Amino acid sequence: MLAGKRILLVIAGGIAAYKSLDLIRRLRERGADVRCILTAAGAEFVTPLSVQTLSRNTVFRDLFSLTDESEIGHIRLARDCDLVVVAPATADIMAKLAAGFASDLATTCLLATDRPILLAPAMNFVMWGQPATQANLATLTGRGVRIVGPASGALAEGEIGAGRMSEPLEIVAAIEAILDAGPLKDRRALVTSGPTYEPIDPVRFIGNRSSGKQGHAIAAALAALGADTTLVTGPTQVPDPPGVRVVRIETAEQMLAACRAALPADVAVCAAAVADWRPVATAGQKIKKKEGAAAPAIALTENPDILATLSKPGATRPRLVVGFAAETENVVANAQAKRTRKGCDWILANDVSTGSGTFGGDDNTIQVVDASGVEAWSRMSKDDVARRLAARIAAALA
Ligand code: CTP
Repeated sequence: MLAGKRILLVIAGGIAAYKSLDLIRRLRERGADVRCILTAAGAEFVTPLSVQTLSRNTVFRDLFSLTDESEIGHIRLARDCDLVVVAPATADIMAKLAAGFASDLATTCLLATDRPILLAPAMNFVMWGQPATQANLATLTGRGVRIVGPASGALAEGEIGAGRMSEPLEIVAAIEAILDAGPLKDRRALVTSGPTYEPIDPVRFIGNRSSGKQGHAIAAALAALGADTTLVTGPTQVPDPPGVRVVRIETAEQMLAACRAALPADVAVCAAAVADWRPVATAGQKIKKKEGAAAPAIALTENPDILATLSKPGATRPRLVVGFAAETENVVANAQAKRTRKGCDWILANDVSTGSGTFGGDDNTIQVVDASGVEAWSRMSKDDVARRLAARIAAALA
């Protein structure tokens, strides 16, 4: 699949650099030509000899090396490729890239390239969560830099959290999604997924049973067709889809803000189970039981409707807006009414009544309601629903 493609791989200084050796091998197996830049810090973790042996190419290390420059000048190195991949992308290299530094060969090539850039971040979870890193991430994604990962899990230091570099095969999938001239190449997609949590106090919230499986599968399917995809998700247990920019939020208001920040998009798919209401006020401290007192009443107010907001006519309205309708009765009639009320183009109606197995399950039975009528899909896996929807979207945007 990557035959004839040339990847410039920047290996920066992080413990995850050992996985980059496997990444080189996987890319070569798929026919890619891999040229590597090993930063000074990167060379503390993997040896130039390993990188050179696996890539079967000269390893470039120094901006001021006559040997490297005579092999291939750094400007050509930056441009004579289909994609630049930074794995591991440390907090340091992300900061330098965001600020436009050209202080070594790696950062100079990242600044000099006119090719797409994919980062596979890897760092301690506290570093990843720092406002500085998150601001750099937002700057970079805003400029079109693609991100894969990081995953959550055990980190090398023995701590647990988000910051683990994606596995080599996930990075390969992200690379294939970018380089494959899929039907959604050059399109931007926005997907919402999962539940929202609306806080009552620091420990309690109003939420729902949405697993995020369907929304995540849709983001993966759109990315697999080449779309530059942003997934805005509430709290879920499902892994991040490869090659997708993931924005994690908790409340409906945060979801709306993240969706607005992800515009413009050619298509928006709202698969999230957004809480319809939120507590008017969130208690600053845990609400305590009081002897003999009545149970507290929680006053609710309506949440913004994200689907309806994205569907409003205007300069930033995606060309295609797709919603879901979770119904327990009169599925098609309710979905039709919902489509008109919210102003979206298509509604994928599904039956979430008790016993349907849709919420949290792996399968879904969908009826697509659009301006021309109803299309009933047979029961299929959520992954198949996602692929069929992505193909329908590709056809509509073609
Ligand atoms: N939706 C949204 N923002 C909300 C509520 C819903 O974006 N505040 C989106 C969902 O992501 C879905 C669609 O609207 O795509 C329909 O969601 P659903 O729960 O079926 O409809 P509701 O608007 O909540 O209507 P009701 O609960 O009355 O059926």
